[in-house]
Amino acid sequence: MTNTLAYHQAASRSAWEIDAVFLFITVVSLFFFILVEGLLIYFAVRYRRRRAEEAHATSDVRSNFVLETVWVIIPSIVVIAFFVYGYVVYRDVTTPSPGASDIHVVAQQFLFNFKYPDGRTGINELRVPVGKPVKLIMTSRDVIHGFFVPAYRLKQDILPGRYTYLYLQPDKEGAYDVYCAEYCGGGHSTMRAKLIVMPPGEYANWVAGAAAEAAVPLADRGKALVEKFGCLGCHTVDGSPKVGPSLKGLFGRQGTLEDGRTVTADEEYIKESLYDPGAKIVKGFPNVMPTFKGTVSPDDVTAVIAYIKTLK
Ligand code: CUA
Repeated sequence: MTNTLAYHQAASRSAWEIDAVFLFITVVSLFFFILVEGLLIYFAVRYRRRRAEEAHATSDVRSNFVLETVWVIIPSIVVIAFFVYGYVVYRDVTTPSPGASDIHVVAQQFLFNFKYPDGRTGINELRVPVGKPVKLIMTSRDVIHGFFVPAYRLKQDILPGRYTYLYLQPDKEGAYDVYCAEYCGGGHSTMRAKLIVMPPGEYANWVAGAAAEAAVPLADRGKALVEKFGCLGCHTVDGSPKVGPSLKGLFGRQGTLEDGRTVTADEEYIKESLYDPGAKIVKGFPNVMPTFKGTVSPDDVTAVIAYIKTLK
């Protein structure tokens, strides 16, 4: 669903309404553009000076009250119509739908966290059932971000220290792109999410599954994350060093850094090593690990630490 066709696809009532406003403005503007430019060209040709000696004085017309009144009133009506129509649609797409379910959105460099009222969470993935209106309650942990759903034609800034809202009416099943629409730093272009509109039955299954997943022991979740994020490409769990130190027996181990300092691999150290891997490199290992800041949430870090603790 990332091709341009899907990008332009109207997948919600808001999209149709906003497209209609733009179409109305475009068609009316085009009509007057052709009228004015057409008359301009017509007059230029019709009343051109044919020969040099034709330089008579032109007729002395000072004003035409009726004509001037008409060309002030008609454009005024037209621009007022643009405003009123646009305002009515704006009010409609920003008015809460009755029975909308709340979903919290916390943006940070460079991802979106979604939190459902029942405790489910999602990163860069917002799942909703088709046909049920949604109210997004949004805030930011750091800088200004944006929440833009092109297929819905809706966009709202997300601000630190303040809540902003966006109302979605998921009318059509499918997966739609969500973009951050405010430049928020080096990873801005990677800050994307998916809005997944599911049939009610499938959604119910997913909710049940997500609830079951939440019941998985923390260490097991950590093991799955370590596999998912590719940690095992560089770290073993059997005690042998690879590109990086083995995770086996890591927790609580003392290590010597390049500059001679000693560190203990406690929770803080593991968190720091995930978010800022170059900060404390153990002597003898290369400084090649990428940061997982923004990829691994604080909740996930907790799970990874719990898993590492089990590798004795
Ligand atoms: Cu977040 Cu751009």
